[in-house]
Amino acid sequence: MSTVLHGVIPAAGTGSRMGESIPKQYLRLGGKTLLEHSLLALLGVPGMQTVTLALHPHDTLARSLDLLSDSRVHTVTGGPQRADSVLAALRAVPANAADWVLVHDAARPCLQVADVQRLVARVIARQAGGILAEPVVDTVKLADEHGRVLQTLERSRLWRAQTPQMFRLGELTEALESALAAGDPVTDEASAMERLGFAVNLVGGSSRNFKVTLPEDLALAEWYLSRQGEAV
Ligand code: CTP
Ligand code: MG
Repeated sequence: MSTVLHGVIPAAGTGSRMGESIPKQYLRLGGKTLLEHSLLALLGVPGMQTVTLALHPHDTLARSLDLLSDSRVHTVTGGPQRADSVLAALRAVPANAADWVLVHDAARPCLQVADVQRLVARVIARQAGGILAEPVVDTVKLADEHGRVLQTLERSRLWRAQTPQMFRLGELTEALESALAAGDPVTDEASAMERLGFAVNLVGGSSRNFKVTLPEDLALAEWYLSRQGEAV
């Protein structure tokens, strides 16, 4: 039997770096919006009971998506920062505190279900939260405030955090509430959990699960989506 899972998708951003007239999650690639691609990937994960979307307070585009009438899909109003949107969605997830929740950016439409299944398997085996992440391939420098190198970091220990990020609903809600109350900037769920001393497992993902951010990212996302299921 598959593990009971719930999903959260923060989709309340405005996509300012994309510079389009509509938020990037509503841009279409291969006939579907980025949000639909991301949502379909989560709904395709065995055991996924519900997915709660956080939408912008002035969103007018979500209602035109057929997928939102799926009985597993719920919506809430997001907040000013990504963490506010995630927290608003977590508070609406119809689940128990000990249930597992996967938080996934609407802006990562090329997620593959097989990668999520590896994340879920690792988290369940270790009974501790985890995230998809990509080992860094470049040599990375730490700079001072004048743009001079202070140090070359040890690459073999550096990872780029992706989503989904999988934690227990109650613990993640508490961690985000604590970070927001303290005014600590948290740009992903894992950093909120790390703050409270929770273990976070890194599960190697795929570079195709990148975050669509700039106009030039669209062509690459379209290429990956057109080759879904192929090993590219
Ligand atoms: N997000 C959200 N609520 C916010 C800000 C962001 O739900 N207040 C969501 C975005 O919709 C996106 C994900 O968080 O799915 C990752 O954020 P990002 O890539 O930064 O998207 P935007 O904030 O929309 O883009 P930008 O930073 O370029 O404005
Ligand atoms: Mg942003």
